[in-house]
Amino acid sequence: MSRGSRKISVIGAGNVGATCAFVLANMKIADIVLLDIYEGFAKGKALDMTQMLSVTGSSSRIIGTTDYSETKDSDIVIITSGLARKPGMSRDDLINTNTKIIKDVTEKVVQYSPNCIIIVVTNPLDAMTYVSYKVSGFPKEKVIGMAGVLDASRFKAFLSLELDVAVSKIDTLVLGGHGDDMVPLKNYTSVSGVPISQLINSKRLEEIIQRTRDGGAEIVKLLKTGSAFYAPGVSAIEMAESILKNQNKILPCCTYAEGQYGIADQFLGLPVILSSKGVEKIIEIAEVYVYPRDTDQKIPEDLKSPDNKVCVIGLVADAERLADIRRNRVAIMNDRKTSTYTDLNSITEEVEDSKKLFKKLILK
Ligand code: NAI
Ligand code: 2OP
Repeated sequence: MSRGSRKISVIGAGNVGATCAFVLANMKIADIVLLDIYEGFAKGKALDMTQMLSVTGSSSRIIGTTDYSETKDSDIVIITSGLARKPGMSRDDLINTNTKIIKDVTEKVVQYSPNCIIIVVTNPLDAMTYVSYKVSGFPKEKVIGMAGVLDASRFKAFLSLELDVAVSKIDTLVLGGHGDDMVPLKNYTSVSGVPISQLINSKRLEEIIQRTRDGGAEIVKLLKTGSAFYAPGVSAIEMAESILKNQNKILPCCTYAEGQYGIADQFLGLPVILSSKGVEKIIEIAEVYVYPRDTDQKIPEDLKSPDNKVCVIGLVADAERLADIRRNRVAIMNDRKTSTYTDLNSITEEVEDSKKLFKKLILK
């Protein structure tokens, strides 16, 4: 890459943002702007990374700043600014503060990089991606949230540890919201093409799936002062790389659904092709059933089947589509609830006040 040819800005020079910048610098694929509200924080980290480049052999330029004009004409902007979880907090507890931050940051990003692609990392992810999408006024394919890549990487890590096999040979998808009710798709999990069900018994697999769902909380509990950042940082960069290099990778990303899986006007984790356009396409897996979560309805008995538990959670907007899915009877979901907030009414009661604020910020 020639210096100055591609540019990625990372907003928030904290744990995740700095990891993104560090990984990017060593990949040598773009110049990097690291921006934070704390000037010294961004500048100090950028300078430290600049001093590493002679050793790593990269010619990327790394700038630390508080000034959005430095982000001008970025190809990609990764937004990591905002509060992270502390022990005992859920991702939802962050909604108040982070909505304000994402709104403010997105406005400034768009002012200087009207043609960029935005990758949102800040939690609660599905909600914050929606905020950034609304505030940016960008087309849906250009605002994408990072969560599925991370959740899948956790699932793969745990499987690799369990089976003592190369993690690079494990393939999987984790869909749904980035919350405790994410859905690792076991029927789409394999090791070098061998279905996971042939390598591990179902009880143990369920335990690993639960550990994946709790993966973020497990690290928060250990760190005590923040949340995970190495795996989140590289996960965001895998998305950025697929976009920057037009790699067309299929990755689970938080994306805007417009009828796919029967979901409308909602951000949630779905498999997408990531190209230089951003979300090139949402991949629809015929067997994945999206169950309406906006009701107290129980899962119909005829849809329950122990050996076919593929599931994604979301709103079924279209009754005909639901009927169609049910006719085909190909997939089942469990009765967990998801934490996607793109339908404003789906924000849970525990965050009722935040919901009002969120609505006010978005809708005004
Ligand atoms: P951190 O606290 O280390 O860094 C956040 C940074 O944002 C701080 O340096 C802070 O000064 C900066 N900041 C705050 N307001 C700002 C503003 N208005 N403009 C510019 N910078 C601002 O937190 P960390 O660990 O980097 O996490 C960042 C966010 O990413 C959190 O919301 C966290 O929950 C989320 N996260 C999401 C993941 C995902 O899978 N989607 C995974 C890991 C973290
Ligand atoms: C994680 O899953 C905190 O969402 C972040 O680690």
